[in-house]
Amino acid sequence: MDKILVRGGRPLNGTISISGAKNATLPALAASLLTTGRIHLSNIPHLKDVTTMLELLGQHGSAITIDEKLGVEIDNSNIVNFMAPYDLVRTMRASILVMGPLLARYGQTEISLPGGCAIGSRPVNLHIQGLRAMGAEIDLGGGYIRARAKRLQGTRFTFDPVTVTGTENLLMAATLAKGQTILENCAREPEVVDLANCLIAMGAKIDGAGTSTLTIEGVDHLQGCRHAIIPDRIEAATFMIGAVLTHGDILLTHASADALRAPIDKLKSMGAIIEEPDANSIRVRCHGDIEAVDLETSPYPGFPTDLQAQMLVLISLAKGTGIVTETVFENRFMHVSELQRMGADIRVRGNTAHVRGSKRLIGAPVMATDLRASASLVLAGLAAEGETLISRVYHIDRGYERIEEKLRALDADIQRVSG
Ligand code: EPZ
Repeated sequence: MDKILVRGGRPLNGTISISGAKNATLPALAASLLTTGRIHLSNIPHLKDVTTMLELLGQHGSAITIDEKLGVEIDNSNIVNFMAPYDLVRTMRASILVMGPLLARYGQTEISLPGGCAIGSRPVNLHIQGLRAMGAEIDLGGGYIRARAKRLQGTRFTFDPVTVTGTENLLMAATLAKGQTILENCAREPEVVDLANCLIAMGAKIDGAGTSTLTIEGVDHLQGCRHAIIPDRIEAATFMIGAVLTHGDILLTHASADALRAPIDKLKSMGAIIEEPDANSIRVRCHGDIEAVDLETSPYPGFPTDLQAQMLVLISLAKGTGIVTETVFENRFMHVSELQRMGADIRVRGNTAHVRGSKRLIGAPVMATDLRASASLVLAGLAAEGETLISRVYHIDRGYERIEEKLRALDADIQRVSG
């Protein structure tokens, strides 16, 4: 199994191009099941999770053409299988996103229950409750969700708590339902807005994207479209944090600062210098000491839970102490024990981590446990003295495109080693 070897102490310097957003690509691929027209998606990232979703679509009967430069084209005029099997779903929970589209377009689906993962139990009860509210008959048994519906009916449904893929699943289902659907307390993430824009390009009637209330007028069918995936704000912010903790100076291109207001404000309050030369680039510099801050994750536009692990590393290197509270997932501090082995002074009590900043982390062999935790270990290695060898890097390949190549282009001493 591959590992990543990082030799710390070198400031990140240079320019980096941000890839398309994983969490916008996955729902857009699922949305293709809503039509027999051709869907063309550009700016697709080359990630394991995207490959898994394409595999899932392929076994449903999708005809998929991939062009390195131009993106992916999907033809769903011959969907023959409505089942999402356990062996695929267990490798990527976001497979649940095919449930709404298959039910709305074909009136049937059988999806393996995604199960939990390292960061939490990850229930899908709201996905199920929402589709039942739209008239679906849903049974659970043998680890599978079996759903049937002659035609979904518009409804009024409120999410509690806010759920990103729950919002996306019901949004997609509502586009072909009979009548009006009003969804309340929806997720407002940029990836949800991007999905709504893709659906509107397919002919869907959606109001309120980016707000807590989505109003959808169902239509009888949707057509194909061409859609460009938005930049990956989590990848962008991960590299921004890397520039700050190595006291570097980087320019991110194909990046959207508008999707990163909370992280940008937080980094500036720590002492980072962040400029926006234009609407698609962000310059991040940091030459002096950084000050620790308190942080609480929450749904967009709050501070993203997907950046919590990365920020914990930065606060560990800052002056002073910081309190980090994780409010979205119940077990998202798996990276802490690995960071402690590198010398970080972090104490976790419940959903709160108390961090006492220090000047030094020491390189060590560490193990990745989940996608964003693995990114935090790479960041820690960049700042640490000596060598850090990160195992189980398959976690990182799920969400970061060629991370060691991108970081090497920023002058980091990092390489992938096998064995
Ligand atoms: C999406 O996961 C993202 N994944 C996650 O990114 C991200 O961390 C998360 O949203 C929060 O922003 C994709 O978009 C593919 P949720 P999702 O449903 O939709 C509870 C990454 O690193 N909940 O918003 O699965 C749930 O337990 C990944 O790229 C229910 O109770 O997360 C959690 O506490 C990790 N019932 C909270 O809602 C439900 O039916 C938020 O989860 C659904 C969710």
